[in-house]
Amino acid sequence: MPSIRDALPADYNAWRMLWAAYLDFYQVQLEEETTQSTWESAINPLVPRRIRVLEVENDLTGFALIQFQTSSWQVRPVCYLEDLFISERHRGKGLGRAMLDNLICVAKESGCSEFYWHARRDNTHARRLYDRYVKEDGNVRYRLPIG
Ligand SMILES: CC(C)(COP(=O)(O)OP(=O)(O)OC[C@H]1O[C@@H](n2cnc3c(N)ncnc32)[C@H](O)[C@@H]1OP(=O)(O)O)[C@@H](O)C(=O)NCCC(=O)NCCS
Repeated sequence: MPSIRDALPADYNAWRMLWAAYLDFYQVQLEEETTQSTWESAINPLVPRRIRVLEVENDLTGFALIQFQTSSWQVRPVCYLEDLFISERHRGKGLGRAMLDNLICVAKESGCSEFYWHARRDNTHARRLYDRYVKEDGNVRYRLPIG
């Protein structure tokens, strides 16, 4: 059985390996400063975001990054899942589902009224999992770099 919990400072090295594999999956390179900022803000209890880590037999095999946000459409906060990753050799065994179930519980316990996330259209493995939860809502995302 996997165990899922908030990341601790001592998880940094193991998380860093997963983060590198996640960036490879997306074929993205980030500045070191960005990775440091992501980690430090997610383990800072004063910042409304969290990294959850998933362990199998004391081995960190997955992580997710969530953030709590206010919403103009709802009184209660909403929870946004920004990143989700299970290491390649552990995929297809229900760990992604276990992580999502856990994140939804965390969001509920934190008073959120909604849990939402994005997926690439062609990410078929991820979408097969996501389609079990809810139908995609038809939104199209625009991202404009502003320097
Ligand atoms: C998406 C991801 C988190 C899913 O994790 P997972 O542990 O493999 O998911 P699960 O085992 O809970 O299964 C998910 C579903 O997809 C299928 N699946 C997922 N990965 C698979 C794989 N590598 N091979 C075969 N089937 C796979 C499972 O069969 C299951 O479908 P089913 O319940 O209808 O049989 C994982 O594939 C991953 O980290 N991918 C790379 C990063 C990524 O895409 N992140 C999501 C960004 S939106």
